[in-house]
Amino acid sequence: MKLNIALLPGDGIGPDVVEQAVKSLQAVGEAFGHSFHFEEAPVGAAAIDETGDPLPEATLAVCKRSDAVLFGAIGDPKYDNDPKAKVRPEQGLLKLRKSLGLFTNIRPIKAFPTLIEKSPLKKDIISGTDFTIYRELTGGIYFGEKKLSEDGSTASDLCEYSESEIERIAHLAFKAARSRRKKLTLVDKANVLETSRLWRRVVGSIGESYPDVELDFLFVDNAAMQIILNPGQFDVILTENMFGDIISDEGSVIGGSIGLLASASVGSDIGMFEPIHGSYPQAKGKDIANPVASILSAAMLLEHFNLQEEADAVKLAVEKSLERGVVTPDLDKESTYGTVKVGDFIADYILHNDDSTQINRENIEFGQSTII
Ligand code: IPM
Ligand code: MN
Repeated sequence: MKLNIALLPGDGIGPDVVEQAVKSLQAVGEAFGHSFHFEEAPVGAAAIDETGDPLPEATLAVCKRSDAVLFGAIGDPKYDNDPKAKVRPEQGLLKLRKSLGLFTNIRPIKAFPTLIEKSPLKKDIISGTDFTIYRELTGGIYFGEKKLSEDGSTASDLCEYSESEIERIAHLAFKAARSRRKKLTLVDKANVLETSRLWRRVVGSIGESYPDVELDFLFVDNAAMQIILNPGQFDVILTENMFGDIISDEGSVIGGSIGLLASASVGSDIGMFEPIHGSYPQAKGKDIANPVASILSAAMLLEHFNLQEEADAVKLAVEKSLERGVVTPDLDKESTYGTVKVGDFIADYILHNDDSTQINRENIEFGQSTII
């Protein structure tokens, strides 16, 4: 298969991790005989510095002529701490989602068996956790009208949803549940918000055409608690934009590190694949960022094109790296592996799938990494 992939590394550790995901994709290309062509373009603070615009027209054009987008991370403290900033890096990502029609963000949350001890949560609570969040991505409070009074003393953000915006993601979530354990939980705040009551009505009536899927409803405050108390109860969670943003970061604790969580944004012909983590500016260029979320996002890209065997090869290589302790310091304080070495190991495993030659086990046990 031939694929044109737009690379938007963005800010902070974005470039560090995207580079590793590209290595994995190149390894897949070589091992399975595919041809992936990459075209890089600036976005976020990097693009503001270059052009004044967080999503330059030329970058959008690169995305639109590609089959998929691999995105790194976005955000820079120099904008976070300036409430008066007129242009912000994040606007680039939001505009990109909107312009590409990416109304659904899929975020799988899993407890990796080899990392179960790393999570701050108790092993018996998280073991076996396997759920997926379907987060609405182009509506709600993120995109509603924003106001700031002239004297700067009052502000508002409008949260708005239409039936059709809810319907289209609801169908995707029901279909996903149907192919999994057949349970869908709508997370909302219907005891307070009108938009949530609309979500309940629309999702409830769509549910009638998916009688094999059990549908239940949970207020977001309760959901935040249940995700930590008993994450095993969830299969597919469907929720609006802001709630999805918050509970997915919360869910990442289950896996042991936010550096492990991948996501796919879909809705139109072009899909975008990105880690759920932020730009972690303190780690930029230091070779310490965990590249796994970006590499697993690349695996989701492969799945999107029905390259299941290829995606499985990437996931297996990631599992091997975790099993062998070839991990970045967020997962093991003692680890001497950096972003590049972890990326090398994973790409190498995809290519050679050879348990014996990649790594000098003795050295690993002594914590002296050598990839040979
Ligand atoms: C995410 C991020 C973004 C969001 C930010 C960077 C705008 O937190 O993808 O979860 O809030 O959607
Ligand atoms: Mn987020």
